[in-house]
Amino acid sequence: MTQAYQIAIDGPSGAGKSSVAKKLAAKLNIDYIDTGAMYRAVAYKMLREGIGIEDREALKAMLENIHIDFSRGETILDDEVISEKIRTPEISKLASDASALPEVREKLVSLQRAMGESKSVVMDGRDIGTVVFPKAKYKFFLTATVKERAKRRWLELREKGLDVELDDVEADIIQRDHNDSTRALNPLRKAEDAIEIDTTAMNLEQVTQHILSYIE
Ligand code: DC
Repeated sequence: MTQAYQIAIDGPSGAGKSSVAKKLAAKLNIDYIDTGAMYRAVAYKMLREGIGIEDREALKAMLENIHIDFSRGETILDDEVISEKIRTPEISKLASDASALPEVREKLVSLQRAMGESKSVVMDGRDIGTVVFPKAKYKFFLTATVKERAKRRWLELREKGLDVELDDVEADIIQRDHNDSTRALNPLRKAEDAIEIDTTAMNLEQVTQHILSYIE
């Protein structure tokens, strides 16, 4: 049996990380772990239980009993399938705010390490190559212009039937980039040894093939 290895894919919102990670995992027949969905799951549970961002004691207690899992491409929170429910603008905003809190990061980073240390995984997020698996065998950092990322997110939301303005999506992306890269704890940052790929003019298949060329 070959040794377990990790593929870390980091980058800002809308750079194409999750589509690429999903495709790579399928091609390599290994698990895909969407760490953004884990921050979203925490936000979802905060909303469901009425826990505000200031209520740190309640938040800590909630985190002690949280169960997040991935099964057959679905995100599961405490036995509830939440894959679609966590893709709303409200959850995006709260997930970004919650991801700046030390207790949230500590808990999720430890869950992520446990999920990826004994089996091969593709893990995407903001701090995978820098913090979660600094020794990952392969590290990639995906980028694209703000305009292109906003367009991709807008198309995605429209496909789901959400009537949103492109300008609002772009403003939201700029705000989240700012939050994610300026927070004190584990900000979005390219690991020194990560391979940077600008996906602005590339499609999903091209990015996937490009990454595979480093792996195979
Ligand atoms: O990738 P995403 O949009 O689903 O992530 C949701 C939020 O979680 C995003 O604002 C950044 C945060 N996040 C993080 O801080 N660290 C990660 N490893 C993944 C996501």
